[in-house]
Amino acid sequence: MVDHRARAVASETVEVRAAEQHDRLPLALLFAAVAEERDGIAAEPPIDIEKRAASWHIDRTLVAVGSKEIVGVLSVDESGFGFGEIGMMVAHSWRGRGVGTALVAAAIERSRTRGLHKLTLSVFPHNDAAMGLYRKFGFVEEGRRIEQIRRSNGEWWDLIEMGLLL
Ligand SMILES: CC(C)(COP(=O)(O)OP(=O)(O)OC[C@H]1O[C@@H](n2cnc3c(N)ncnc32)[C@H](O)[C@@H]1OP(=O)(O)O)[C@@H](O)C(=O)NCCC(=O)NCCS
Repeated sequence: MVDHRARAVASETVEVRAAEQHDRLPLALLFAAVAEERDGIAAEPPIDIEKRAASWHIDRTLVAVGSKEIVGVLSVDESGFGFGEIGMMVAHSWRGRGVGTALVAAAIERSRTRGLHKLTLSVFPHNDAAMGLYRKFGFVEEGRRIEQIRRSNGEWWDLIEMGLLL
């Protein structure tokens, strides 16, 4: 069950803003921590923190800041054909408190302003939290890629493709 008191606390203390150059290292560290979970995102350890920090597309990225630290990130990779591809994550201890919701809401608003007509994303079928978040905003399932992602443990995981017309 959702703790609405905790959600209210999160929305009061979390600010969503455009990423800045000085966010590179904390973004790479957050990415590495979520990769360590080997669950929600395709990347797995080891993550080269310096390389990841240097290659991050800051101009495509929104960050959620809570307690003066980056607690969530969402990037929209604009295709040039009117759609943008979302990638996102929230720090483990901040999940379930509305941070993801704040990031997706801001991304939708920003994408509309930038003239995109659609947002898309790929999500693992077991990722109930992510699919619940996306469905809440009207994203629908558009297809399934079978055994798309090879995992380091030798498994192959399907991906669900989701999309939202803006
Ligand atoms: C997916 C993720 C970004 C969600 O962020 P979050 O801050 O926890 O999301 P919110 O607290 O805003 O919850 C948003 C909605 O997601 C759904 N949700 C959240 N946690 C859930 C859970 N454990 N089970 C089912 N649905 C869940 C609910 O619909 C919720 O809305 P509601 O509370 O109004 O009902 C976060 O779990 C995460 O970073 N996971 C690891 C990385 C990852 O999977 N990234 C996405 C790859 S596609």
